[in-house]
Amino acid sequence: MTQGICILGATGSIGRSTLDVVARHPDRFHVIALTANSQVDQLAALANQCHASYAAIADASLAGALRDRLRKLGSDAKVLGGPKGLLEVATLDSVDAVMAAIVGAAGLAPTLAAARAGKRLLLANKEALVMAGPIFMDIVRQHKVVLLPIDSEHNAIFQCLPSSLNGWEAKTKGIRRILLTGSGGPFRERARTDLQNVTPDEACAHPTWEMGRKISVDSATMMNKGLEIIEAHWLFGAPADAIQVVIHPQSVLHSMVEYIDGSVIAQLGNPDMRTPIAQALAYPDRIDAGVGALDLFSIGTLNFEQPDFNRFPALRLAYCALAQGGSAPAIMNAANEIAVAAFLRGVIGFLDVVNIIEDTLAVLPAAPLRELADVMAADAEARAEACRAVDRRARSAA
Ligand SMILES: NC(=O)c1ccc[n+]([C@@H]2O[C@H](COP(=O)([O-])OP(=O)(O)OC[C@H]3O[C@@H](n4cnc5c(N)ncnc54)[C@H](OP(=O)(O)O)[C@@H]3O)[C@@H](O)[C@H]2O)c1
Repeated sequence: MTQGICILGATGSIGRSTLDVVARHPDRFHVIALTANSQVDQLAALANQCHASYAAIADASLAGALRDRLRKLGSDAKVLGGPKGLLEVATLDSVDAVMAAIVGAAGLAPTLAAARAGKRLLLANKEALVMAGPIFMDIVRQHKVVLLPIDSEHNAIFQCLPSSLNGWEAKTKGIRRILLTGSGGPFRERARTDLQNVTPDEACAHPTWEMGRKISVDSATMMNKGLEIIEAHWLFGAPADAIQVVIHPQSVLHSMVEYIDGSVIAQLGNPDMRTPIAQALAYPDRIDAGVGALDLFSIGTLNFEQPDFNRFPALRLAYCALAQGGSAPAIMNAANEIAVAAFLRGVIGFLDVVNIIEDTLAVLPAAPLRELADVMAADAEARAEACRAVDRRARSAA
C-alpha cells in the first residue's frame, strides 16, 4: 500500500520540493491532491505531471481556467475552487498525509481540517501554529494526529529529542534547552542605519536557502526566527526561557537539544528542504531525498554567534508575544503579514516592517483564545490596525 498525499500550497517552494521527493518513491507515495492560490498554469502542469486525482484552487474565480488547462494537458483531475475546495481535498478518505505548505494565515483552516480528520500532518505552515497554538495543539491531541515538523530547525530538534513529540518534560527527560539556529539572514553584518532603503529583491536574496518571498523577508527581519521560537514552544511544549536562538551563518547545523549531563545533540545536513521533507514523509523510516552528502572538509568551519536583539528587534517582540500569550502571537503574525506584503509592494521601507508589528502589538491588547473565532477576530483586528499603520508610514515617507 502506498501513502496518498495531499499537498496544500503545491506551487510554492516547499510544495515543489515535496513533489520532488514523492516522485523519487513511487513505491511509497502517490499524489491524491494538489492546491494553489492563483497560479493556474503551474498547478495544472504539476497535477498533470504527478497524475493527481484532484486540483484545488483557492481563488474560486479561476476554477474554470484550471479545468480548461487540465483538459488541454489531457488530465482528468477533478477541479475544486474556493476555500471549501481546499478543506475538501485535505480531508478526503484517500488522503493519508497532508503537507501543510500554504504560506501565512490562509493555511490555518485547511491545516486544522486535516488535523480534525486525523491525517498525518507535515507542518511547514508555521504561521498557523503561531496564530492558534493552544487550539491547534488541542486538536492534534484530540485526534491523535502524527504531527511532523518540516521547518528545518524544528525537524532537527524533533530528530534530536529522545522520543517523538511527547511533550517537554524536561525534568524526566533530562533536557535543559533547545538551541534554535538561524543563519542571521542576508543583513546579518549590515548596520541598522543601512537597512531602511534595502529593496525587496535584496531582502529576498537569502545567503543559504531558496524560499518563497514572504519567508525570505521574514528571514531578513529575523521575524522568521521569532515565529519559530513560538512554533518550538507549541510543538515541543518548551518554555520560552528554554529556547535559545543561536546564529549560525553556514546553515549546516539545523538546531540542537542540550541535556543536563552536558550533552548537546545536533542534526546536520546540506541546506536543502528535501531532507526534512523526506524525513517526515517516511518517518520512522529513512529514504533518499536527492540531497548530496554533507562535505565537512569543504565546509571546514562552523560559526556560532549571539543574536543581536538591538539590530533585529523582531526576536524581542516574539519573546514578548509568547510571554503575553492569548492572542498576542496572532496579532504579531497578522501585522507581520500585512507589513511584509506592503514592503514587497514597495509601499514601506524595510525597517518599517518590524516597527509596524511593534505599533500594532502596542495598540491591541492580547485577549484569551478560547476558540478559533477568537483567533480569527484577533487576526482581522490586527490586519486592520496594521493596514492603518502602513498608510501612516507610507504617507509620512511621501
Ligand atoms: N521555503 C522554505 O524553504 C521554507 C522553510 C521552512 C518553512 N517554510 C514555511 O512553509 C510555508 C510555505 O513557504 P514557501 O516558501 O513554500 O512559500 P511560497 O513559495 O510563497 O508558496 C506558497 C504556496 O501557498 C499558496 N498560497 C498563497 N496564498 C494562498 C492563499 N491565500 N490561499 C491558498 N493558498 C495560498 C501559493 O499558491 P500560488 O502559487 O498560487 O500563489 C503557493 O502554493 C510558509 O509557512 C513558510 O514559512 C518554508
